[in-house]
Amino acid sequence: MRKPVFAANWKMHNGPQDTRAFLQRFLAAYAPRDDRTVIFFPTAVSLAVAGFALRDRQDIPLGIQNIHWEDKGAFTGENSAPMARDCGASIALVGHSERRQNFGETDEMTAKKCAAAARAGLAPILCVGERAEERDRGTTLPVVLRQVKTGLGRLEKSQIPSIAIAYEPVWAIGTGKTARPEDATLVHAAIRRYLREVISARADDVPLIYGGSVTADNTAELLAASEVDGLLVGGASLDVDTWTRIVST
Ligand code: 13P
Repeated sequence: MRKPVFAANWKMHNGPQDTRAFLQRFLAAYAPRDDRTVIFFPTAVSLAVAGFALRDRQDIPLGIQNIHWEDKGAFTGENSAPMARDCGASIALVGHSERRQNFGETDEMTAKKCAAAARAGLAPILCVGERAEERDRGTTLPVVLRQVKTGLGRLEKSQIPSIAIAYEPVWAIGTGKTARPEDATLVHAAIRRYLREVISARADDVPLIYGGSVTADNTAELLAASEVDGLLVGGASLDVDTWTRIVST
């Protein structure tokens, strides 16, 4: 059985001091539970502080928001998967739409990043999702399936059951326009069908996570949707009380 995943993507918010203060309050409010997984994705400069704050909470995995596909080298401003591991991370977000839109990240780059994460022992969460105009043209499924196929293209089949995929329609991110649960189900079901073609029954091990304007008020409805195994939350994860409410749903 896949446990529901609640993942906080803090984007470019919460430096080390705010991270420490947030996690101190959150850990006091949230006791370990084995029926769900809560994950934090702080900004890279806060990763080590978060790793230290979470050192006694093995129930809460830590992730990095983005990695380079090389392990080290002359790549000013970048961070690698082994370095994230060194900070305590066990997961890497790959291909978030903000990376694709603002930093020119291509499907082929996401494939290299997924492979780099897996090589370093980080579980990649590959983010996919169509833009508004792609949705309006009725091309949601082809776009998302192309992103999934290419993004996973450099992984061994045996590595795919350890990943997760986050479906985040670009038009739903930070807009207050949440996808309807049935629309998320439709896309997740198509991704699941594709994974079954590739890795057969092990496809059922892969959590399919929805992201885009998740709030404390729509969490239950989205989680109840078929094939929605968890939520990747931006804005609503930045307030301790709201986030505690969401992960307690
Ligand atoms: P919002 O929850 O702020 O819409 O952001 C979603 C997201 O991009 C999470 O990765």
